[in-house]
Amino acid sequence: MTGEPRLGDVFGELLRDAYAVHTGIGPRPLVGGRLPRPVIEIIERDDGLVNGAPAAHYLDGPEHWQPYDHRAVDRTRGATLDVGVGGGRIALVLQERGIPVTGLDTSPGALRVSRHRGVRDLVLGTVDEHVADGRRYDTFLLLGNNLGLFEGRERAPAFLAALAALARPGAQVIAHGTDPYGTTDPVHTGYHEHNRRRGRLGGQLRLRLRYRELGTEWFDYLVCSAEELAELVRGTGWRLTDVDDRDAPYYLATLRLAAGR
Ligand SMILES: C[S@@+](CC[C@H](N)C(=O)[O-])C[C@H]1O[C@@H](n2cnc3c(N)ncnc32)[C@H](O)[C@@H]1O
Repeated sequence: MTGEPRLGDVFGELLRDAYAVHTGIGPRPLVGGRLPRPVIEIIERDDGLVNGAPAAHYLDGPEHWQPYDHRAVDRTRGATLDVGVGGGRIALVLQERGIPVTGLDTSPGALRVSRHRGVRDLVLGTVDEHVADGRRYDTFLLLGNNLGLFEGRERAPAFLAALAALARPGAQVIAHGTDPYGTTDPVHTGYHEHNRRRGRLGGQLRLRLRYRELGTEWFDYLVCSAEELAELVRGTGWRLTDVDDRDAPYYLATLRLAAGR
């Protein structure tokens, strides 16, 4: 034993337990074999910051959603790829509305939960891997802060190129992001500064997720301002056509495939 977590499907295990608590289906996590134990996602940042977030909201029905989730769903049209479908909360509502939706995720456990909840069309993998499947889409959703999957300056162009390869003419991306720069907390402003000094975007987080004895590899997850997003999109096949920041610091960014792509 090293004290280090074992690599595994953190998100899948976390969602499985949150689903068991939510529905009573499957063994529920218990304290001392008796009392319900809350299911908490542990997020470690590479400066040592540790945060815990309850996982239950990944299963929330629309009555508990934030307003921007409703606006994202209202803008969704045509064949839709829900990138990082998680527990399927968005895909289920799209299905109910008759919108053809495919849920993509790298977590086998998340896909199991989504399938059990009734999401019909699910694919395991990344956007890059999905290109070879030959399916094409009108809308790409990056919800639940999944603009983070842009990672940073190095990965964003390749990620956007994969989406362009999966796109039908006129396609759109609807992405939920958070502007990280409103804070005055020195733990965060110091981290932003540290990142910039090492050539990264201020909110380019280096994270590892943990649940019970499991952990992920360290990965980059991008929290950026709309101005930084505009910079990342420039020169790709996409145009940033709208930033809805009615719920600032959260925003919904809409990208459109440039004409002729
Ligand atoms: C923060 S959760 C958001 C879940 C869902 N979109 C929601 O709003 O409830 C992130 C999800 O993205 C998935 N994910 C992480 N990296 C991914 C990648 N490179 N490609 C596809 N999915 C990924 C995770 O397994 C997880 O299900």
